[in-house]
Parts: sequence; C-alpha cells; structure tokens
Amino acid sequence: MSVLVTGGAGYIGSHMVWELLDAGEEVVVLDRLSTGFDWAVAPEAKLVVGDIADQDLVESTIRDNGVDAIIHFAGSVVVPDSVADPLTYYENNTSKTRSLLESTVRAGVPHFIFSSTAAVYGTPQKVPVTEDMPTQPESPYGASKLMTEWMLRDTAAAHDFAYTALRYFNVCGADPRLRTGQSTRGATHLIKVACETATGKRDFMEVFGGDYPTPDGTCIRDYIHVTDLVRAHRLALARLRNGGGSLLANCGYGRGYSVREVIDTVKKVTGFDFDVRERERRPGDAVTVVADAAIARRELGWTPELDDLDLIVTHAIAWERHLKQLNSSQA
Ligand code: UFG
Repeated sequence: MSVLVTGGAGYIGSHMVWELLDAGEEVVVLDRLSTGFDWAVAPEAKLVVGDIADQDLVESTIRDNGVDAIIHFAGSVVVPDSVADPLTYYENNTSKTRSLLESTVRAGVPHFIFSSTAAVYGTPQKVPVTEDMPTQPESPYGASKLMTEWMLRDTAAAHDFAYTALRYFNVCGADPRLRTGQSTRGATHLIKVACETATGKRDFMEVFGGDYPTPDGTCIRDYIHVTDLVRAHRLALARLRNGGGSLLANCGYGRGYSVREVIDTVKKVTGFDFDVRERERRPGDAVTVVADAAIARRELGWTPELDDLDLIVTHAIAWERHLKQLNSSQA
C-alpha cells in the first residue's frame, strides 16, 4: 500500500512526503518539476516525473505501486498570476484535476485528499470564517479550486470514493529540521518575500495597499506553519482509511496578522531593518481572511503545535539561510 503525492517536489508537497515517511508510509511522488525540484523530494520516496493529466502514466503509477490514497497538491498557486492568466489556472487546477479524478475512479483508489484554499471565500462576510459561509472567490485561483471542490463532491456521490478537502489559509515556515522548505523561484508570498529581503536576496520589499479597512490599513491573514498543515493531512488520511466519510475543513489557526505586523516580526527576529516600500493595492487581494478550524480540530483530532509567528519566521529564515548556503556551494 502506498500514498501518491502529486506536486510532492513543491513546497507543501515536499513537507507532506517527509510527514508520511516519518509515519512509516510508502510514498510515490508525481511531479512534472515545473516549479518544484527533484532534490526537494526525500530520497526514500519514489519520484515519477510527469503530468497529473497523463492518464496512462497516472493509472500505471497507481497500479504498479498499490496506491490506496492520493494527496493532491499539484497546481498553480499565485493569486495575482491567476488574475493575469486565468485560463492557465483553470487548466492546471481544474481541468487537470478532472482528469486526475477520472484516473482515480478508474483505478479504484478509494481515498483522496485535496489542497483547497481560503481563497474560495473571497473576503468573508465575517471572521473567523466557517466552512458553511458563502463562497465568493475574488480571483480565478479561488474559483479554480472551488470548481474542484464541486467535482469532488459530485464524484464522491456517484462513485465508491471519499475525499477530504482542506481549505488552507496562508501556509508558511519550513520543516523545523530543515529537511525541506520553500524554495520557489520568484516567490510572491509575504513571509517568503520578507525573509528573502531580510537575508539580502532582495534589496527591498513592497506592501501592496495601505488603505484597507483594517487597524493599520494592510490586509490581514491567518498564517499557518506548513508542518502543522501537513499533519492535518496525515490525520485526514487515517480518518479516511478508518471509514470516515467525505469532509471539508478549514486549516488555519484562527488568528490574523496584518502585512505590517508580519514584516515587523521578520525585522524583530532577524534584527535587520530592511527597506519596505508602499505600493498600490494588488488585484485579487481579499481584506481579512481568518479561519475557524473547529471542524479540523473535532473531526481530524488536529491540534496545532507550531502556532507562533516568531517561530514560523525563525524556521522560514533558517531555511532561507540554508538555501543561500546550498546555492553558494553549487555556484
Ligand atoms: N503582500 C505584500 N507584499 C508582498 C507579498 C504579499 O504586501 O511582497 C501582501 C498581499 O498583498 C496580501 C498579503 O500580503 O495582502 C498576503 O499575500 P500572499 O501573497 O502571501 O498570500 P495570499 O493571501 O494572496 O494567498 C495565499 C495563498 C493562497 C491562499 C490564501 C489564503 O497563495 O493559496 O493565501 O488566504 F488561498
């Protein structure tokens, strides 16, 4: 029996692979290495390089490895890019997942865990947001993931198949043991960008919008440590294998920080006062997005262990320094 991790060479996927290996699972990664790296995949996992929409490849990988569960991370994840290039997002996130689901059903894989997103809510009517609140994505990225949730719901109703869709809030940090971290080139996510600036990879960083209706005028997000997030997936896998039915659950801590608070934390942790420039609002940004994760806590038995912004930034900075060393030793 093994677990297929799509996008396992990427940021969250590579942490998932370690989490599964630590729990004694056999792991197969399917990744086309468009944004991920083969070196990010734990050596104990098997890496298949290819596309999730290559049905022959997916189905033979499932058969050859006795896959009983798929954890699906592969996809495009940058909100503003999805505004500029929506059709690529609908292709990578929606169409290709439709194809993967067809392979899943055809090969008889009973369990599926999906990386969904808080972006399905848009700007919630109230925070913390619960799963039953209206979904009004403000970007093609959010819409592309919401359509996949609908496909999962309908597929589970029609076939012998159960899923867990986890709506991630803002994932950040790195494996505390530094076996992997966020290595994305041209990263756009706030904590990654701030850590790159603090370690000298960038000369300055930008704050997109200082006139939002929040206490300091910048957007508020719920930043969740990647290690806590992948643990929620492992618990979801155990629940599905124990016969648990399909489930939709938020994954966040229930506490928001503004863009300025995050930047101040990075400055405090590193002791480096870097250059921050004010810019216009970024298209597609919701104002305040904070999770109510009661369902994940109750149904999965999930108890976050790294719910501390200073610690998250400490791990993210440690990974940034590690990457810098890796790059300079390769140069
Ligand atoms: N921001 C800046 N400067 C930067 C980068 C980001 O000011 O250099 C701001 C953004 O404008 C936004 C906030 O920081 O207000 C967070 O932006 P991110 O790009 O880090 O993350 P997003 O909230 O846009 O999106 C992320 C994930 C989505 C997920 C969403 C959930 O990319 O997958 O969090 O809230 F859905």
